Amino acid sequence: MLTSIQTAFNIDQDQFKAIVDGFNEEYTTGLNTAEAKGLATMIPSFVTRLPTGQEQGTYLALDLGGSTLRVCAVELLGKGKVNVDEVKRTIGMTDPLRTGQVEPFFDWMADTVAMLLEKQHLDPAKPLSMGVSWSFPVDQTSLSDGTLLRMGKGFELQEMVGRDLKTLFHDAFQRKNLNVKVTALINDTVGVLVAHAYARPGTRVGFIFGTGTNAAYPEKVSKLIKLKDAYRQQGGDMLVNTEIDIFGNEQYLPLNEYDQQLDAQHTQPKFQLYEKMMSGGYLGELVRLICLQLIQQKQLFDGYAPSIFNQRYQFDTAYLSDLEGRDEQNLDDRLQYLQEILTWEQDVQYSVTEQDWQTLLDVCRIVATRSAKLAAAAIASLIEQQADTLDLANEQNDQPIIIGINGSTYELYPQMHGRMMDALSAWFGANVVGRIALEPARDGASIGGALIAMLYDEQANS
Ligand code: GLC
Repeated sequence: MLTSIQTAFNIDQDQFKAIVDGFNEEYTTGLNTAEAKGLATMIPSFVTRLPTGQEQGTYLALDLGGSTLRVCAVELLGKGKVNVDEVKRTIGMTDPLRTGQVEPFFDWMADTVAMLLEKQHLDPAKPLSMGVSWSFPVDQTSLSDGTLLRMGKGFELQEMVGRDLKTLFHDAFQRKNLNVKVTALINDTVGVLVAHAYARPGTRVGFIFGTGTNAAYPEKVSKLIKLKDAYRQQGGDMLVNTEIDIFGNEQYLPLNEYDQQLDAQHTQPKFQLYEKMMSGGYLGELVRLICLQLIQQKQLFDGYAPSIFNQRYQFDTAYLSDLEGRDEQNLDDRLQYLQEILTWEQDVQYSVTEQDWQTLLDVCRIVATRSAKLAAAAIASLIEQQADTLDLANEQNDQPIIIGINGSTYELYPQMHGRMMDALSAWFGANVVGRIALEPARDGASIGGALIAMLYDEQANS
């Protein structure tokens, strides 16, 4: 019954290869493109040093994600250990802050900084430095300077593109009488890599697998055409924000009818096609679209559509992991859970059946397995991009290849890790896969922001 859906979501080895090869080509194109405008990829971070794990001190960090703002005081304790005190605020999908003017949004963030300073009993008049982790691309010209490129994830601030991010923060801090200086701006992927390197020196990739998806890795500065010649001659490595979320096109991404439907109904069609196929922002919606078709064909819920399936993005990705995580042995629990999350129109008296459960579970598994494979394809390409440094061809080398991963889709989905490892194993074979360590990098981005603020504060003072 579900064979056609299974086929539509399958990624065979040839398709996997086409994606890895396609991504590898996009690294080269992005590295060789001079301008970081519009749909820029391979964005330099200006972070050329990684922490050793021994750093100590307390630093401020602000981390803006797709649905959460966190402002933290990060106490680095040395030996890779940290203590975090934070003020966390969520931004609802329909919150007018998301689509209003830039200034009120930055005022709201500055207010949150003030809340943290109060919580920490810090004097707002005393100068403090802060690292900002931004989950959106920025055209960076230095570690702390850059203009906003685009947002996404439901953010459509008016007249935002091209504005200087640091100035927007500093103006808001001034309006709120806060003496805080932004000393580093980093993409969240860079933050994750840096934070993970504090606990695990030698980390090679910072990967975000949450509402959105993206990755950073260290690249030779000589290869970064976007940088000025003088910089490139200095040699060494710099962390690069790949913006892998916008990689891929219809030629080599195996988009099926559900992907196309999701894309056509999106506010930004044709944008971030890869991310739309695999990140947490979309998995629930893909399941919903499939289910609606099955309901129409009377293959699910006897043809009745529960209300949760009648509105776009109402079926949250968290349901997928909840469903897959339920006790296989306990039928009553599973059916009760389904009955709870599904609500019916008043005149419908329908009780879910074991068959409904099985169908829905299979759909979730199919969608999530493809997501894991697509994430693995990105990780495979990021490893291949560093083939020389990692000495991939040498079978004797058993040094771990450490990948720090942050984001709810990876962390809260119990089967995700295993499925990604299966796909990596099918691609690389036992030898290389034995070296790959996919590790959760919890709270990554904010700690990364504080670490960068510290590393470069020290540099400025030395
Ligand atoms: C989106 C953003 C990217 C960010 C990623 C993960 O893809 O474009 O900058 O790193 O989400 O949060």
